[in-house]
Amino acid sequence: MGNDSDEILSRVSHLEDGDSSRDIYDDWSGNYDDHLIDEFGYISPEIAAQALSDEIDAPQVAIIDYGCGTGLVGQALNQQGFTTVDGIDISQGMLDEARKKQVYRSLLCGDLTTTIALDDASYDAATCIGSMGAGHVGAQHVPELLRPLKAGGLFVVIMNGAYYESGGFEQVFRRMENDGLWRIQRLEQFNYMTELERPGWLLVAAKQLAR
Ligand SMILES: C[S@@+](CC[C@H](N)C(=O)[O-])C[C@H]1O[C@@H](n2cnc3c(N)ncnc32)[C@H](O)[C@@H]1O
Repeated sequence: MGNDSDEILSRVSHLEDGDSSRDIYDDWSGNYDDHLIDEFGYISPEIAAQALSDEIDAPQVAIIDYGCGTGLVGQALNQQGFTTVDGIDISQGMLDEARKKQVYRSLLCGDLTTTIALDDASYDAATCIGSMGAGHVGAQHVPELLRPLKAGGLFVVIMNGAYYESGGFEQVFRRMENDGLWRIQRLEQFNYMTELERPGWLLVAAKQLAR
């Protein structure tokens, strides 16, 4: 691993609750794809796109990609045939890179820890890949991410395993199921970087109308 990629991965991994990662991602945006793919062997975008493709036959469904970053998830969705993908991210630097890939219908700069500027029930599916955790999107913000989804809409999350436990995600995901907000279809552990030891979780859940 190069010194640059080592250092920036360490910075982003040591954020705490209440921190913002925006400046780090603005700095990282120009070589994020090279570091993640060539050096770390990052496979989450393909896993997420495959998970949606396994469940959805219609390529034109509207998908919102939360924390879209440089657009690796949009690119993987596009490769699976999905044509209508919007992205939202807090880092303008990352969004500028995403725009160059020309795989999104629209891109929005916004903070997912506040009320999101998206209409209720306007998407058939959502992805949030690598964007949950300390200094990113916390467990308490997950219910708001469901609001722009239609009933029955699929939500795919991939996140770091350490934050899954320490950040209270497991309890929130289970509580949302018990409260009838979503039905969990898959919850699986896997290593999401082929060149590093990075245990993570894949969640696929279908939104339900609250009881
Ligand atoms: C590890 S990157 C993942 C990017 C992309 N999903 C991928 O898989 O390559 C995390 C992304 O979350 C974004 N992010 C962090 N906190 C955020 C927030 N509060 N609101 C919106 N985006 C946020 C960062 O700017 C960054 O682009």
